[in-house]
Amino acid sequence: MTLKEQAAVAAAGLVESGMLLGLGTGSTAALVVKELGRRLRDGEIRDIRGVPTSEGTARLSRAERIPLLSLEEAPTLDLTIDGADEIDPAWNLVKGAGGSLLREKIVAQISRAEAIVADDVKMVARLGDRMPLPLEVVPFGWNTHLDFLRGLGGDPVLRRSANGAPFITDEGNWTIDCRFSGETGQRMLESPAALDEMLRSRAGVIETGFFLGLATILVIARESGVEVLRQDA
Ligand code: A5P
Repeated sequence: MTLKEQAAVAAAGLVESGMLLGLGTGSTAALVVKELGRRLRDGEIRDIRGVPTSEGTARLSRAERIPLLSLEEAPTLDLTIDGADEIDPAWNLVKGAGGSLLREKIVAQISRAEAIVADDVKMVARLGDRMPLPLEVVPFGWNTHLDFLRGLGGDPVLRRSANGAPFITDEGNWTIDCRFSGETGQRMLESPAALDEMLRSRAGVIETGFFLGLATILVIARESGVEVLRQDA
């Protein structure tokens, strides 16, 4: 087993019979869904139901015979297990490289526990150091955000699919990936909460990839093994 698979198995091990789950998106979350499917088939757990954070995760979960619910049916969840692109020392995250940040954040905010599974390369001293920050925006006027972002020291790029067309999220929106550099950009990254508020207050920006104060459990894959950390421990 790779380290990532070991971490996914450890994260799926947090799930108990009867739980209502949020099912994350990305290559790590997919391994978790597969392990949950195996645990169900082998009778290790039963009666779990999940809310998927993307159409891709919904398809995989159905293939694994995990019963699915909508948020109308399950407005609060016991546990969500998801991946991340960056994790800072305060357990704040950047997510969204996989294109599902809006649904992921809605599901995270109604979960009693949010477990994040990741390789330790994703642990960063400061958010934005390793990955661009994704912004989910409505297509109308997407380009009007570019100069605003440049004014904050950003280098915004519209995310595109392999065929060159704008990448469309499951909610029908577009994504702008923005690296922050230079003196102004570096200053912005020093205060993710303030930057997040500034970005989200702009009409047309629906959400950012900052997940601040949402993670409660970290399952980290290190060369030395998998570590499970709990915020209340
Ligand atoms: C999906 O939108 C993202 O938030 C993912 O959770 C994130 O990109 C992690 O993906 P990997 O597990 O594939 O690295």
